[in-house]
Amino acid sequence: VKTIGVLTSGGDAPGMNAAIRAVVRTGIYHGLKVLGIYRGYNGLIHDEIKELDASSVADILQRGGTILRTARCEEFKTEEGLKKAAEVARKHKMDGLVVIGGDGSYRGARDLSKYGINTIGLPGTIDNDIACTDYTIGFDTAVNTVLDAINKIRDTMSSHERTSIIEVMGRNAGYIALYAGLTGGAESVILPEVDYDIDEIVDKINYGIKRGKLHHIIILAEGVGRAENFAKMIKEKMPTLDIRTSVLGHIQRGGSPTAFDRLLASRMGARAVELLMQGATNRVIGIRNGVLCDVDIDEALNMKKTIDMELYNLTKILSI
Ligand code: F6P
Repeated sequence: VKTIGVLTSGGDAPGMNAAIRAVVRTGIYHGLKVLGIYRGYNGLIHDEIKELDASSVADILQRGGTILRTARCEEFKTEEGLKKAAEVARKHKMDGLVVIGGDGSYRGARDLSKYGINTIGLPGTIDNDIACTDYTIGFDTAVNTVLDAINKIRDTMSSHERTSIIEVMGRNAGYIALYAGLTGGAESVILPEVDYDIDEIVDKINYGIKRGKLHHIIILAEGVGRAENFAKMIKEKMPTLDIRTSVLGHIQRGGSPTAFDRLLASRMGARAVELLMQGATNRVIGIRNGVLCDVDIDEALNMKKTIDMELYNLTKILSI
């Protein structure tokens, strides 16, 4: 293995830069040439590729987003797009490719590996919805961003004795909502993975008011629905309730990565290079119980991640 490439694909996540830095510096450390591919698979198809040296990744460890830019690429899903991408990779004598992104990105990596390009996927998404890993790069930072928002919103809700619905990202998964809800002391956490009962939520608000609670914070995962609609449902049952909604949106994707995400990204980036040097292909890196592992991409795509019910039940117990 002499030349490897690295790209980021799908939604950006804090820590992607730390992962790029780890791939580049580990590659150079082992005497490899490392190519940066811009705008995800688009850049591979359209040859937007530049060699990265050790200093080209200086000063990015602490930055959110991705210096390589990112995109969701429709052209790459076609046979023609895939062929073009493989040709460009061959033209640059790329023996291996590290793809940092979510599961849509791994499908691309798998398809490309069938054209003889060795590929390794790194889980980079705030959603934490990749089944082969306990944590994805960016998730911890996003949870901390949501936590900061909950703290601030709570000040206002307590002062006005209001109920607040905070809609958080996560696509079809409720991990951000669950972790931020538990650590932020939310009264209710509504997740796509667990059925909710609107009457139970209303009873809890009433009970909270009776026992003198100053606020009621509901963390709603976007995969369940919109905060405005949820507020309407509650308002129908409690017409006099003073209720407000906040949709946190893309603020959750940006910002300087936490130490946890930097560590995860650095370890995974370095492992990706080592795997490519060993001739591995079509693998996704994960972390389980603190130990790095790697899984076949097809296997990873078929795995189903379940929500941690122990944590979910704990949010209920601690918010009585
Ligand atoms: O996958 C990351 C994510 O931020 C999801 O949580 C969210 O549903 C989606 O991307 C938003 O996508 P976009 O940035 O294209 O609006």
